[in-house]
Amino acid sequence: MSDRLLDTLRSARPGWLPRARAESAVGPSGPGLPEALRRLRARGFRIDESDDGGLALRGEPDLLDADDIRRGLHTRVVGRRVRVFQRVTSTNDVIGDLARQGEPEGTVVLAETQTEGRGRRGRGWWSPPGKGVWMSVLLSPPVRRGSVPVTTIIGGLAVSDAIRASTGLSALIRWPNDVVIGGRKVAGVLVEAHQRPGGRDLLLGIGIDVNAGQDELPPEIADIATSLSEAAGEPIDRPELVRTLLAELDRWYRIKLDRDIDTINEQWRERSATLGRRIVLEEHGRRFEGTVADVDVRFGIALRMSRGNIRHFRGEHISLIGSDCDG
Ligand code: BTN
Repeated sequence: MSDRLLDTLRSARPGWLPRARAESAVGPSGPGLPEALRRLRARGFRIDESDDGGLALRGEPDLLDADDIRRGLHTRVVGRRVRVFQRVTSTNDVIGDLARQGEPEGTVVLAETQTEGRGRRGRGWWSPPGKGVWMSVLLSPPVRRGSVPVTTIIGGLAVSDAIRASTGLSALIRWPNDVVIGGRKVAGVLVEAHQRPGGRDLLLGIGIDVNAGQDELPPEIADIATSLSEAAGEPIDRPELVRTLLAELDRWYRIKLDRDIDTINEQWRERSATLGRRIVLEEHGRRFEGTVADVDVRFGIALRMSRGNIRHFRGEHISLIGSDCDG
């Protein structure tokens, strides 16, 4: 009942909601308006009351709440179930355990903090409480449509779209798995594959630095990373960002399942931070330097080498060592 009240309060924002409308949102069989308001305030919502009993929603808690995220979400697969934890080792660990216990495809795990958050190639991932989106999604694509590199790219595209929709900021993809604003990393994507009888699950992990101040970032990333709030110059509504991200992931997952390669390539090229840049990459311990001539989900990235020949790199074992767009 308090959720209908919450929706009604939200719809009246930034103005006042007449008391009679609040009463009817709670309904005659509910706990009554004073109790519904008490429950919302206990969850951290700030609600003002005027002399004539009108109500105005002034602030929402900056806590992730599964019901709140699910409400108003019209996705086909991603976000069918949403589970929020306060503290986990890694959301990818939790979603992996749930997958083994038969959790359905599309389940999303979010945590306020991770004690052992991980990035690509065994690196750690800084995940302080309440400052970011630390999230994993369980995907179980049909056999032969479960490519890790393509899933990493659609993850990056969804993050970039969600950032643009929520903040207006333009976020680019620095192949293979970084999302950057103004050359600084704001988000990363980590896709891990788990074999199961009859196929394999993909654990799509996404980490976004949302509301950390620049001075809060650990020294080892302070010069190369930033957060959305720093880039936007104002705090970002995390629940709203998560909802938008789930909708974008659902859309991009559908595009991938439909094998609409042209759309993925077109959007990747448009938002690539590496296309046309000189980069150094490593594959199976060997380093290669060249200019990125093209990006394509089928062939990977095409690197023009110093002798003018083109070499393609694709797969999970490639790492970007350096690039002239780092700064
Ligand atoms: C990278 O850029 O190296 C990838 C970072 C991925 C971080 C996310 S946070 C949620 C999920 N759980 C993890 O332990 N890692 C991913």
